[in-house]
Amino acid sequence: MKDSEYLVEVSNLRKRFNVRREREATLKRVVTRLFRPYPHEALWALDGISLGVKGGEIVGLIGVNGSGKSTLLRVIAGIYVPTEGDVVVKGQVGALFELETGFSLELSGMDNIFLSGSLMGYSRTQITEALPRVVEMVELDEFLEVPVKAYSSGMKFRLGFGIAMAFHPEVLLVDEVMAAADEAFQRKAYRRLQDARDNGSGVMLVSHEMDAVRSHCDRVIWLADGKIRAEGSTEEVLGEYLSSVNADHAGEECGSRGSG
Ligand SMILES: Nc1ncnc2c1ncn2[C@@H]1O[C@H](COP(=O)(O)OP(=O)(O)O)[C@@H](O)[C@H]1O
Ligand SMILES: [Mg+2]
Repeated sequence: MKDSEYLVEVSNLRKRFNVRREREATLKRVVTRLFRPYPHEALWALDGISLGVKGGEIVGLIGVNGSGKSTLLRVIAGIYVPTEGDVVVKGQVGALFELETGFSLELSGMDNIFLSGSLMGYSRTQITEALPRVVEMVELDEFLEVPVKAYSSGMKFRLGFGIAMAFHPEVLLVDEVMAAADEAFQRKAYRRLQDARDNGSGVMLVSHEMDAVRSHCDRVIWLADGKIRAEGSTEEVLGEYLSSVNADHAGEECGSRGSG
């Protein structure tokens, strides 16, 4: 059988969350809930997603809040289990999600590097070998000895980015965090992503910064309501996305003028 050329292959992926419908607590409801569980509503955060990511490309993932971008990256990272469909990932995954998750806040940056490395399955020797690269990359200097709870969001980004890149992962997933870094570090981080891409990694980048998507992504996927609304060249998909946002915005302004 021919090996797939994709590092990430997602087929007919659906992900359902059961959301609790909150209703006002009346005495009757409180009593009936003692005997019956809360009513749950199914929310399909991802609804039939198929895509592939190859080594050597940075794929931008765009879409309004709630369209399913973070859920998709979390399924690919193995944090969420698909409700339906298949996800195949080849190689190690480096992930950079919300900055508040993934760190032990009481531990120093240095301790977090070792903790994250061992959670990713690396030995102490492997982590010690990777350490100089991480220290050089994050430029946190003496802050590496300080508990992470004292870090600014930019510093957490540096640490998370350094850890995600430390072991040269084949697949890199970056969710909306680049904006936390200062200008100089952002440039450095994007350069590192491009280097990883040029060395054969596959990168998925979620961002609301259209300029960054335009300059760094080789192609773009637009998610809307858990489905792929458009995919293709960066210019084309960004153009469609921005005209849809502009059209919605114009509609709102007409609406408010009409009612006001
Ligand atoms: N853990 C969860 N439990 C319930 N609903 C969730 C959960 N995570 C995400 N959702 C819902 O799934 C949808 C997609 O969310 P998300 O993937 O975070 O979107 P995005 O990252 O594009 O803003 C939203 O409606 C969100 O409320
Ligand atoms: Mg998100």
